[in-house]
Amino acid sequence: MRNMRIPMARRRAMAVVAAVLLAGGVAACGNSDTGGDGGDDGKLVLGFSQVGAESGWRTANTNSIKEAAAEAGIELKFDDAQQKQENQIKAIRNYIQQKVDVIAFSPVVESGWDTVLKEAKDAGIPVILTDRAVDSADKSLYKTFLGSDFVKEGRLSGEWLVENKKDATGDVNIVELQGTTGSAPANDRKKGFAEAIAADPKLKVIASQSGDFTRAGGKQVMEQFLKAHPKIDVLFAHNDDMGLGALEAITAEGKVPGKDITIITIDAVKDGMQALADGKFNFIAECSPLLGPQLMDLAKKVHAGEEVPPRIETEETTFTQEQAKEALPNRKY
Ligand code: AHR
Repeated sequence: MRNMRIPMARRRAMAVVAAVLLAGGVAACGNSDTGGDGGDDGKLVLGFSQVGAESGWRTANTNSIKEAAAEAGIELKFDDAQQKQENQIKAIRNYIQQKVDVIAFSPVVESGWDTVLKEAKDAGIPVILTDRAVDSADKSLYKTFLGSDFVKEGRLSGEWLVENKKDATGDVNIVELQGTTGSAPANDRKKGFAEAIAADPKLKVIASQSGDFTRAGGKQVMEQFLKAHPKIDVLFAHNDDMGLGALEAITAEGKVPGKDITIITIDAVKDGMQALADGKFNFIAECSPLLGPQLMDLAKKVHAGEEVPPRIETEETTFTQEQAKEALPNRKY
């Protein structure tokens, strides 16, 4: 028996070797770099390229996606493109190289995606568009789109204005703060709004410029509008943040927002809803950022090879000042 005994030092060394071998084996089985069959622990790996952090809406959207991934047991690889298309293309190429299971992204602009989407398709990685669409003619380059009807948001804003100004006499001068140039929400909201206000010829857009969906951009462009145009009756801002930035420019000019200038925005994030409840904004068309749970569900389905609808639209509403007062206490973002 004495000859069979293994000395303590040797037993410890053997235990260390066994542990190293075991860890190596687990990594080799479950590593996402080895073939797109899930990450550590066999979790589905989702590569997500976010537009940036330009607005309150975007922050709420990022939080929704991160929380939903954790809840769904999905390994999320997240990249913030800082509102640059080249950064998004780089991130998508990295995800292809890492052999993630599914790629999702919110395209900063509509055009210029065909090459990288083809690379993902050739690598056998399904792509989901969230929030913003692309203008690719080849719809087989992505599995589905999940997001809002931006044309409808613009149209609802315009229809409210037509009704609100129906008794006004003389021209109603409108300035428009557009979102990021070339982005789906900027293109579509502009279109929907223009179509709706065409119903009343006295409603005239006298200036329209991009504020890039940021507060700083909204403030700066509104300052220019106020300098160039002595009579501004209405501001249509493509999101709350630009509207909030514009408030600073308007009050600095000695004008009363919500009274001297009627303000319509889109999103309905908490700060926007507060401005509406306070009477500084007049109307908001909602755009929901809470896309995370539906996105995770879709990621699981496309990974499993299930059929999904080509377009899934979020349910949204609109808010007047009175409705904002009611909704504000329960607003989560
Ligand atoms: O794509 C959605 C838009 O992007 C939101 O309306 C805006 O706030 C954001 O920056």
